[in-house]
Amino acid sequence: MQVSSKIFFEHCYGKYAIAAVNVFTMEQVLGLFSAGERANAPFLVQITPAARNYAHPEMLIGMIRAASKIYPKAVYSVHMDHGNEEHAFNAIQSNDYDSIMIDASHDNFNGNVKRTKAVVVEAHKKNIVVEAELGVLSGVEDDLSIDEKHAKYTQPSEVQEFVELTGCDSLAVAVGTSHGAYKFSGGDGIQFKILAEIQRRLPKFPIVLHGGSAVNFEEIERINRAGGHLNEGASGVAPDEIVKSIAYGVCKINIATDTRLLWTRVHREFFRDTPELFDPVIPGKTYMAEYEKFMLEKFDLLGATGKV
Ligand code: G3H
Ligand code: 13P
Ligand code: NA
Ligand code: ZN
Repeated sequence: MQVSSKIFFEHCYGKYAIAAVNVFTMEQVLGLFSAGERANAPFLVQITPAARNYAHPEMLIGMIRAASKIYPKAVYSVHMDHGNEEHAFNAIQSNDYDSIMIDASHDNFNGNVKRTKAVVVEAHKKNIVVEAELGVLSGVEDDLSIDEKHAKYTQPSEVQEFVELTGCDSLAVAVGTSHGAYKFSGGDGIQFKILAEIQRRLPKFPIVLHGGSAVNFEEIERINRAGGHLNEGASGVAPDEIVKSIAYGVCKINIATDTRLLWTRVHREFFRDTPELFDPVIPGKTYMAEYEKFMLEKFDLLGATGKV
């Protein structure tokens, strides 16, 4: 059953979080829906512009509709992740999405407000919910000084005005996480003081955490043992920090990197261990099963199991 994420967030706020998972392939869609149904856990399927370029929007939406027939008890919402105006308006027009993200976070405050608001106005005409972002996530990296790092975090003093002016329904914040497999290069972790300040100014308002992958070290080692060459400094968000963030109003945890690492590990091990085989169905099956297991564990961690 397809449900608005607004309902998800009303139910989960302060208690558990919704996994928002980026999908690119059939195996991922099937693994996700299978896990959601098995765990009775609500979830968000996310489509990025890169995924739309890769698989075509019709194919992605078609796979999601098909998965929903195959797993009729799955309760999910369809989200456009990291859209610009073009993606957002296209998604609104298509009637395929329950929510969209307009990512204008690299603009200055006023620019971000203006661009976000324009999308909110159109989206709300169709009851589509909008996620906006304030603060710069991707820049929180090694080569920045402490001052530069702090400038990129979401400024709590700005959040209330931003939400009031834009009318957005949820807010993605920069509180230390970043996309990809090399997070927290400075070793800082999630900035809970900032999260607490944000929550004080936006009580009961759903907060979104991008860059939510755990980047398991064991997974990196397995990839490298099977011929991969990932930097051993790869690291993600500690599971206990994710859990802790829920009490601070984090309702949606975005996950993509972990599912890519899993894909890489499964396929590298398949090629290493069975060089005589040449059948995509075999590693595909393993990937789906491992993906499902990964999601079942994630739903448990987020407290979402049994919440349907
Ligand atoms: O931020 C979300 C995804 O990790 C972006 O990945 O640009 O390859 O779709 P993508
Ligand atoms: P990860 O790179 O941590 O998986 O983050 C994904 C994300 O934020 C998608 O929007
Ligand atoms: Na998003
Ligand atoms: Zn993101």
